[in-house]
Amino acid sequence: MRQPLVVGNWKMNGSIASIQSLLEGIKQAIPTVPSAEVGVCPPFVYLFQVSSSLGNTSITWGAQNVSHEAPGAFTGEIATGMLADFRCKYVIIGHSERRHIYGETDDLIAKKWVATQKAGMIPILCVGELLEEREANQTEQVVGRQLEAVLKLTGIGSFNKGVIAYEPVWAIGTGKTASPQQAQEMHAFIRQQLARYDADIAQKVQILYGGSVKGSNAAELFAMPDIDGGLIGGAALKAEEFITICQAAKS
Ligand code: PGA
Repeated sequence: MRQPLVVGNWKMNGSIASIQSLLEGIKQAIPTVPSAEVGVCPPFVYLFQVSSSLGNTSITWGAQNVSHEAPGAFTGEIATGMLADFRCKYVIIGHSERRHIYGETDDLIAKKWVATQKAGMIPILCVGELLEEREANQTEQVVGRQLEAVLKLTGIGSFNKGVIAYEPVWAIGTGKTASPQQAQEMHAFIRQQLARYDADIAQKVQILYGGSVKGSNAAELFAMPDIDGGLIGGAALKAEEFITICQAAKS
């Protein structure tokens, strides 16, 4: 049985004040979430605030990116050990904004997966196709390639301690959600790709859906058999909306 997981990806949003009130709202409503694990990923500079505020709650937290390098002369980067220091449970890696705005490659992302696990944290690997790739019938090829980069570098065993997020790029921040059927199809495909190496691990890995998930569409997405929760962007910035989404994730 896979536990549902809903993670808020705050992206480059928030201030000390707005994050304080967002956290208060989430903490207050968390008892109304029956079965999902709930996590939040703030910008790096707010990790201290978030870890201090959530320390004695069931809510978990993580980062939105990390460097695969050991500490040293890498101006502007953040090392895995620093995130572990702030008790991050998760690190989002390979988000489409990292891939497409900042040019991160499959190979670099695979190294981040390995480095994150080495530091004792759980990587959330984002995969997903561009609109033109979907229209050219290349969706499976693209997502298969993104998974394969990690499999090739480190093997199927590493998916025991990893999460996958399927996020079609055309659905992110656009208000255009994949239909539950479209999402389910790709989640099943991802599981199938992993099952070629190990059926048991493929059955156990949590696969989240991301891309314009809202309070109004979460339940139908999460009802799909291979969708184990969500990675939530815009809707995670409002406590009430985010909690409605979390409530929709039931085992
Ligand atoms: P969105 O973002 O919910 O705002 O579409 C999701 C994501 O990028 O993880």
